[in-house]
Amino acid sequence: MKRQPLRLAILEATRILEHAGVASPRNDAELIAAHVLGVERGRLPLVPLVDPSVVDAIGQLVTQRAKRVPLQHLIGWAALGAIAVSVGPGVFVPRPETELLLEWGLALLKGREYPVVVDLCTGSGALALAVAHARPDAVVYAVDNDATALAWARHNADARAAEGDTPVRLYSGDVTDPTVFAELDGLVDLVLCNPPYVPEGTTVPPEVAEHDPHQAVFASEGGIDVIRHVVAMSARLLKPAGGVAIEHDDTHGAAVPALLRTRRVLTNVRDHSDLTGRPRFVTALRG
Ligand SMILES: C[S@@+](CC[C@H](N)C(=O)[O-])C[C@H]1O[C@@H](n2cnc3c(N)ncnc32)[C@H](O)[C@@H]1O
Repeated sequence: MKRQPLRLAILEATRILEHAGVASPRNDAELIAAHVLGVERGRLPLVPLVDPSVVDAIGQLVTQRAKRVPLQHLIGWAALGAIAVSVGPGVFVPRPETELLLEWGLALLKGREYPVVVDLCTGSGALALAVAHARPDAVVYAVDNDATALAWARHNADARAAEGDTPVRLYSGDVTDPTVFAELDGLVDLVLCNPPYVPEGTTVPPEVAEHDPHQAVFASEGGIDVIRHVVAMSARLLKPAGGVAIEHDDTHGAAVPALLRTRRVLTNVRDHSDLTGRPRFVTALRG
């Protein structure tokens, strides 16, 4: 059968996704095409013509994406820092805005040898694994209370270890339990946390509402229920000059920093905005 221009297949996919209300239709169309072809997105211009079977395969995934199945579920991975993790049903898809929190954490670790790092609410394990990749000398602990999320994290941890990264220590636990990681009290250089923080009842896009686990996204008390416990845990885990970074909702730019300021041991409390200028994460140091 006659080969067809890839460019036209991508244009058609973009049109369908735009019509379906997908936020970044061209980006998603290109990543789907790259996935089907098994090439990096940047190499798509080197593929002028494709078989009809490729156009069909792209079309099938585009139909799924138009139904607002997350792109990352269709291609099977999401990136954070210098790594990619496998994702799919039952686990939260790591988001680009979490890159900034990771960057802050890695900057804090500069000049510290063999740092101890804790990732609270690890989900797919993305933050913990990105730190372990960037800092092979770090001892990285990670915890989540959801069995399905932990199964994805275990899979990702095994895959990263097989690539030569230092293994992370994965635990099943609830961050609202005041005894979690008690053996690390006062020993931790860095606490990272992207917890559930969207206020219950908030309207979210179909990708989130129908595909991210509810308990990974939403929290009670206007979205700060889990964060309240993470702040308390950070205050006890950190060693002097250790630091904590916690992602939050864009409506929490005042409330979450205020929560950290109630802990006398935490100093230098600062809120940070994401790439769109919205309040996104808070940081503090242990005095
Ligand atoms: C927003 S997701 C973040 C996942 C990952 N850190 C990331 O950035 O991609 C929040 C995670 O917190 C977990 N979680 C929710 N409540 C928790 C709790 N009380 N204790 C431990 N983990 C919790 C969920 O299962 C979910 O995996």
